[in-house]
Amino acid sequence: MQVGSAAVVGAGFMGSGIAESAARAGCRVVVHEPERPPLERSRDKVHRSVEKAVKAGKLDDGAAGELLGRLSWSTDLDELSGAEVVMEAVIEDPKVKGKLFQRLDRALPDARILATNTSSIPIAEVASWTARRDRVVGLHFFSPVPVMKLVEVVRGIDTSDDVLREAEAFAHQIGKQPIRTKDRSGFIVNMLLVPYLMSGIRMYEDGFASREDIDKGMKLGCGHPMGPLELADFIGLDVMYAIGQSLYEEFKRPDFAPPPLLKRMVVSGHFGRKSGRGFYEYETAPAKVAA
Ligand code: CAA
Repeated sequence: MQVGSAAVVGAGFMGSGIAESAARAGCRVVVHEPERPPLERSRDKVHRSVEKAVKAGKLDDGAAGELLGRLSWSTDLDELSGAEVVMEAVIEDPKVKGKLFQRLDRALPDARILATNTSSIPIAEVASWTARRDRVVGLHFFSPVPVMKLVEVVRGIDTSDDVLREAEAFAHQIGKQPIRTKDRSGFIVNMLLVPYLMSGIRMYEDGFASREDIDKGMKLGCGHPMGPLELADFIGLDVMYAIGQSLYEEFKRPDFAPPPLLKRMVVSGHFGRKSGRGFYEYETAPAKVAA
């Protein structure tokens, strides 16, 4: 199956990146949010990201223009009606996602794949909000989406074999490598990544080492592009907290549980890069940890 037309619901960092990747691969993509300001911010994000790709020699000017020409941003849900694949990337709130999937199910009768980018809500629960449980699948992308090659394809309890195969083919079509995972909290990557990041936060909370040394340790000692505290700031501490809670709730293992400091930071609005303050402070550009 070659997808010609896709929709992305949710115009944040993830949604914008997913839209850019799909448009780069030749899909026409409509990005939807009910309000105009997040759509304007999404348009700016994608333009900046595409400019960066051109400067880095990843795209020529012609291809960049075509990519942008395939994208549109709309507050009108009806404009998504021709989409063959819809990918939801809104906040991790079951109430918000529940209402949205009920609406998408009604508004997009022709969509062959109803995908969610959730990292903590069961695919089975998302499917239960629709009348097409066999068509619901997890497509879990990694940030920054235009750069990261992976997509976890998550099979819900009622996802059909055809939809699973179509979702994998679509991942390949948009230049990603799919890996198949069952529907349990954390899937493959967060199940491994979250205990590591929580350990980094606990180490810092205990006063065992400085934030810079913890991050430098993993960058220079293990070749990671970011240390655990930088990466937690990059993912978003609110997101980290939600994923840790969801893993802990599912498996009751202490290594998944968010440390007390993380909760204090989140309730104080210290969400990491996006709020300007997390384990590091961010002014105009993200803080760099000296190598
Ligand atoms: N399209 C295509 N390529 C692009 C691009 C675009 N729009 N924008 C940048 N690139 C390319 C660059 O040209 C560069 O390519 P080369 O390596 O060939 O030079 C590469 O992408 C990275 O470039 P950047 O300029 O962005 O800069 P950087 O070197 O500072 O890297 C980073 C930034 C990619 C974020 C890197 O620090 C990194 O990999 N960090 C770790 C990110 C990570 O672990 N993400 C997963 C988080 S977990 C998650 O998302 C899931 C969850 O549920 C929590």
